[in-house]
Amino acid sequence: MPADNNVMEKLVSLAKRRGFVFQSSEIYGGLGSVWDYGPLGVELKKNLKERWWRSMVHEREDIEGLDAAILMHPKVWEASGHIAGFTDPLVDCKHCKNRFRADDPRIKGTPGQPDAQCPVCGSRGTLTAPRLFNLMFKTFMGPVEEAAAVVYLRPETAQGIYVNYLNVLQASRQKIPFGIAQIGKAFRNEITPGNFTFRTREFEQMEMQFFVKPGTDGEWFEFWKAQRMEWHYGLGIRREKLRFHQHTKEELAHYAKDAYDLEYEFPFGWHEFEGVHNRSDFDLSRHQQFSGKKLEYLDPATKERFIPYVVETSVGADRTALVVMCDAYREETVEGETRVVMRFHPAIAPLKAAVFPLVNKDGMPELARRIFDDLRRHFNVFYDDSGSIGRRYRRQDEAGTPYGITVDGQSVGDGTVTVRDRDTLLQERVAGDRLVSHLGDKLKM
Ligand code: GAP
Repeated sequence: MPADNNVMEKLVSLAKRRGFVFQSSEIYGGLGSVWDYGPLGVELKKNLKERWWRSMVHEREDIEGLDAAILMHPKVWEASGHIAGFTDPLVDCKHCKNRFRADDPRIKGTPGQPDAQCPVCGSRGTLTAPRLFNLMFKTFMGPVEEAAAVVYLRPETAQGIYVNYLNVLQASRQKIPFGIAQIGKAFRNEITPGNFTFRTREFEQMEMQFFVKPGTDGEWFEFWKAQRMEWHYGLGIRREKLRFHQHTKEELAHYAKDAYDLEYEFPFGWHEFEGVHNRSDFDLSRHQQFSGKKLEYLDPATKERFIPYVVETSVGADRTALVVMCDAYREETVEGETRVVMRFHPAIAPLKAAVFPLVNKDGMPELARRIFDDLRRHFNVFYDDSGSIGRRYRRQDEAGTPYGITVDGQSVGDGTVTVRDRDTLLQERVAGDRLVSHLGDKLKM
């Protein structure tokens, strides 16, 4: 399917206009591939993270939560293979000084050879042979900027889990099989970032590492693949836009025995937004070797000792937010006019309802305010009394607010209000003092 750049342009513009996503440091011209979340975006992402945490940690007895630090001992990254293996081959143009991935489809010819042509300045023979470039961000710990003080910003949250696996196991008195879940920032000095928030240099991951007995990893891998797809269905993402892709031998990461991507059909094509990986005993064995600390598990029933295998589920919070924004974006014709609507699942919508007095007189604003104050103690709601009611509905459609509550002349008399459904546009009359339970039922979906 051809890339639908038009939809992306409209989405990026709506995201900025309505306060979902802004470019980082915009007043200084922006910082490449770093983004900030505005008032609506932060709610959307927070709702996604909370839903993930609830399903992984609160609803399961066999998974514990963790919040490990971003900075870790540099040996972690030697053990994990990220210093040696987390690289992209890059070529430089000696003429215009631009840098490209060696597999950039715009490069004509073989980099390093006289026939190769720079895709930016067009010079021939100026591209260097590919060199490996590490994607980890480096910084220095303490006052002296020397090699011994180098630390890295973590490129994945998973390692914080592996180095804490025994601590968590002992503190929680879990037994294998069990998991550890974490949400946190990760950083990668990506060379070809782009497509809005799809590939960024700073992002958040929601990762869960499930520790199992070797030999049972295949079953658990299938279990977690199915669970994760179900979770995305539960967000209301259109099923036909989701699929699995199994990694080929060439695609497998250095740690993986088997891996599936969950892919979404973005307007710019099918791309990964979650990975389910069978990491075998690679990580724990390497940490045992590099730290000199025993990381074996003693099975209390059989007295067997083994290094657990790990089945990992790793999903980007930002990339999932982009998936739900792309999936929610619709242009519809209503009564001869185009309306733009973000059809978010009500449970993750940034705002749950908006309250409108039909007109700013005859007791309507006072009643609407009372209803708003009552609702805001339970849900994130919005009050809007400016412009025609039609315009106010449209504004909330763009924000993806599932319910619009209007206080009209009848409300002042009998205490009922109309509740408009964002998707069906149907309106029902509900008693004002029943709104909390009415919305609560609808939002539980
Ligand atoms: N611990 C395994 C791991 O990090 P990954 O496939 O490299 O695996 C997992 O990353 C997920 O993290 C991706 O599916 C994506 O959602 C998110 N992610 C990775 N790199 C990203 C980037 N540069 N920008 C935004 N999200 C990213």
